[in-house]
Amino acid sequence: MTEKERKEATETSEAQIAVHWQEEGYVPPTPAFIAQANMTDPTIYDRFSLDNFPNCFKEYADLLDWYEYWTEILDTSDAPCFKWFKGGKINASYNCVDRHLAKHANKTAIHFVPELEEEKVDHVTYQELWVRVNEFAALLQDFCGLKAGDRVTLHMPMSTELPVTMLACARLGVIHSQVFGGFSGKAAADRIEDSGSNVLITMDAYYRGGKLLSHKEKADIAVEEAEKMGQKVDKVLIWQRYPGKYSSDVPMVDGRDYFVNDLLKDYYGKRVDPVPMPAEAPLFLMYTSGTTGKPKGCQHGTGGYLAYVAGTSKYVQDIHPEDVYWCMADIGWITGHSYIVYGPLALCASTVVYEGIPNYPDAGRCWRIAQDLGVNIFHTAPTAIRALRKIGPDEPAKYDYHFKHMTTVGEPIEPEVWRWYHEVVGKGEAAIVDTWWQTETGGFLCSTLPALKPMKPGSAGPGMPGIHCVIYDDEGKEVPPGQGIAGNICIQNPWPGMFQTIWGNRERFVNQYFERYCKDPNSKRWQDWPYMTGDAAVMAEDGYVRILGRIDDVINVSGHRLGTKEIESAALVVPEVAEAAVVPVKHDIKGREPDLYVALKPGIESSDELAKKISDTIVREIGPIAKPRKVWIVPDMPKTRSGKIMRRILAAISNGSDVGDTMTLANPEVVEEIKKMEAASK
Ligand code: WT7
Repeated sequence: MTEKERKEATETSEAQIAVHWQEEGYVPPTPAFIAQANMTDPTIYDRFSLDNFPNCFKEYADLLDWYEYWTEILDTSDAPCFKWFKGGKINASYNCVDRHLAKHANKTAIHFVPELEEEKVDHVTYQELWVRVNEFAALLQDFCGLKAGDRVTLHMPMSTELPVTMLACARLGVIHSQVFGGFSGKAAADRIEDSGSNVLITMDAYYRGGKLLSHKEKADIAVEEAEKMGQKVDKVLIWQRYPGKYSSDVPMVDGRDYFVNDLLKDYYGKRVDPVPMPAEAPLFLMYTSGTTGKPKGCQHGTGGYLAYVAGTSKYVQDIHPEDVYWCMADIGWITGHSYIVYGPLALCASTVVYEGIPNYPDAGRCWRIAQDLGVNIFHTAPTAIRALRKIGPDEPAKYDYHFKHMTTVGEPIEPEVWRWYHEVVGKGEAAIVDTWWQTETGGFLCSTLPALKPMKPGSAGPGMPGIHCVIYDDEGKEVPPGQGIAGNICIQNPWPGMFQTIWGNRERFVNQYFERYCKDPNSKRWQDWPYMTGDAAVMAEDGYVRILGRIDDVINVSGHRLGTKEIESAALVVPEVAEAAVVPVKHDIKGREPDLYVALKPGIESSDELAKKISDTIVREIGPIAKPRKVWIVPDMPKTRSGKIMRRILAAISNGSDVGDTMTLANPEVVEEIKKMEAASK
């Protein structure tokens, strides 16, 4: 290989990402599903065509109740900070609670399922939710002095109190910033500082894996660390896992820490009118970590966001008021905000909030919850689906539940895993939507509309109505559909659910998401500001999009750019394999080579033969170009608390570099085990 060839091999552009993955065939939804679906009118795609943009989104805005109807649908004068439904006045708490009381006061809004099966499920009606939200809003207003525009940090576990707190903030126009409960006190401190919160709302303890974990100490660390950074927290409000009883032995700090259940007594019976907020007022911040630098506070607005999550919950999640809907995500992630709390409640659904982990106390737990509560819509991530398939491949059949609809979200799903989800979890009856989106986007970008488009395993489906995807190469040239070539997937137009900016950092917002493909940085036209998602994707002839992972995860082997996901998917064709992760390893000649990590299904022994079988399968499915340098059969994958496989750590091990901080992982101990394996193999 000449120097020039070597250079080309390592510096090829996205335009050369060839996709070796076979497209799967269509799977139609059942006639029974179609007969009851919310959206069966195929003209929706025409109504939401680019020609009808942005006025098409009036349909979503009209799912909500407005104090004052908006006068301008999209204000682009501050592009790319777009304002939706300008002139409108609205309140999110009113739309998720108050407006349902006339007809559905006694309907369950939230089924709270404690992790311990011996504890009673709490069924909170809309009436009761209204009472609790009002009383807590009164407390926030009166005791904490909070008002519209203030920020409050929440660091709460899965509980009824979390949506109550969010909705109480929303009632006052207070901007909530919920930090995932599993995160450390330091992570909470960073977010308290960045958002400028002087109130922290937390809980004393929660159950996880059968153990009552004390959570209060994280508040102490958070307050201390935030103060070091110059942000004083005046009040810490502590909800109790068992009201009236303190479940932590960490001391309360006098004059700073308060039990909510004590304070609330002064507010029993109090009502607070929802504050009519400008449509573009921020509703919440959701922090997401970038690859570098400090976490970004994605700022979501009120009217646009709520309209978008209500619309997508109705037409993609197919939520009807009589449905029992269970999204297994944590409310501390955007999925939980949009599709446990705001979307379902705006539509008056019954939404399930489950405290614990899916496999406690055994592999049948999820299916028992579904059976006992009559859940008919189920929403989870491939990582959970793989885990459930691994620990209990035959469990679902033992329970009498029936899903009409299921969602997969968060990462690409391998067709093998998709089929298990469809046949075993969904019992062949459920329509599946594979929803591709991001913290930044507020709601779905790509998905099938479940009664209008057939499913295709492994593909997220076409752009949502009103979301016009385009795939660009490095030079900003469009990669046409159906070429088997991947590139950088962008959205040509803004949409109501899109974040408004990065809190306090407009420059980073513009640079990171728009700069690369912006046609004119001075332009006030939305047409000049395509949104760059940062994902690599391929679009088939039919417009269905297949996500290959983050653009940085693409591996360049001898100038052939391979999506990590297609190699992982090929590995999962081997029945013994439960999970697979591919990482690039530096190679003098080829530039990069893939290393493959796999975890096996329970009871299956690791062997050299099995490793060879996996490697051979990849060569058969994709070609010799994708042959892994090595197949590592590991006890488990290092994962984030949200279940994402940490490929960065595996890549560091494979390349013999420093793995960095592993303490934020759900299972830091496996990193040591994998390092030992690697050392032993030398
Ligand atoms: C990244 C966003 C979406 C809310 C939860 C995660 C990946 C997300 C899919 C999907 C393939 C997906 C993308 C995206 N991703 N959904 N259905 N198929 N990939 O939100 O933490 O902001 O992550 O997750 O790479 O950019 P997030």
